[in-house]
Amino acid sequence: MDNSSQLWVEEKELLFDYASLVPKGGVIVEIGTAQGGSSEIFYNATKDREIEIWSYDIAPSLEAYEKLRHTMVFIEHKSSEQGAFEWLQNGKKPIDFLFIDGSHTLKDVFIDYNLWSPFLKPDGMICFHDYDPPTKCETVHLGVRIVVDSMLRLGLIENPVHQYRLITGKIRDNSIKLSTNDCKETFKTILDRVIRICENDKNLDKILKDYIKMREMGVKCNEQITDLDACYIINFGLKINRESIFQLTKNKRKFFEWEEVLQMFEHSLYDNQLKDTDYLEDKEIVKLSSQVSLEQVRLKILSMLIKSFMML
Ligand SMILES: C[S@@+](CC[C@H](N)C(=O)[O-])C[C@H]1O[C@@H](n2cnc3c(N)ncnc32)[C@H](O)[C@@H]1O
Repeated sequence: MDNSSQLWVEEKELLFDYASLVPKGGVIVEIGTAQGGSSEIFYNATKDREIEIWSYDIAPSLEAYEKLRHTMVFIEHKSSEQGAFEWLQNGKKPIDFLFIDGSHTLKDVFIDYNLWSPFLKPDGMICFHDYDPPTKCETVHLGVRIVVDSMLRLGLIENPVHQYRLITGKIRDNSIKLSTNDCKETFKTILDRVIRICENDKNLDKILKDYIKMREMGVKCNEQITDLDACYIINFGLKINRESIFQLTKNKRKFFEWEEVLQMFEHSLYDNQLKDTDYLEDKEIVKLSSQVSLEQVRLKILSMLIKSFMML
């Protein structure tokens, strides 16, 4: 298997097992081809059983085309949205296994689910990637979490199985669509939980200390605080008692660096109002300042990406 795959070893094994369950002549659809890591797994698990694998990506890599030439994987260089529209137009076959691993924005995961789930067979399986475990993840994919948690709350996934960053199950009724209000409700539930934690225990540094200890000990699941909770708790902590939060940090330089990025980001989002700046003759500076902040965040992210090329 190639080493450019974005999947964990355990996830590769699970995806192989799921694809092995697809019956002869069945159909697999994947949103997000990238380097073809998951498509290759699906092909290896299904070859000799005449299974079609359709893989959609707005920018599939050349590596994927090369690797998957002469296989039953059909790479479609188009968006998930466009793909779903054409699937309907062309009256393609119902889907046995739908793997959603494309863009991670809330809007795109919402579109992936709402547009593609109607094509699933009644006993077909859906699987989302990047539904992060409560801990042991580097990034929190909030968009995926909100869509999947909404589905779980509404009972749309039957017998869900959550392992590593994969959540899989059957769709209870593929005609039920998620609404923006469903997602808002879920987001509110996530935030309410953090507000409850923060209100009940003002010693946020103590909560975070316990959380860090759990993470360092490699404990997979902390019932009390998930990685997502921790992000919001740090946010609270920085506002109500920055000093004690600061004491927790081992790498002070990195702390300052990222704290500044956070401040720039918040300035770009929220500091657009003119209320406190009536004394300024030239008010355009406020708007420009927030745009410049956003640009600085972008540059910071780009420079971190460049560092990752050079493995500094
Ligand atoms: C996480 S990668 C997929 C990884 C791949 N499934 C694997 O495991 O090897 C996500 C991919 O989704 C693609 N993508 C982003 N937005 C998309 C969209 N709206 N429709 C289809 N693909 C999209 C990106 O170009 C990227 O290649």
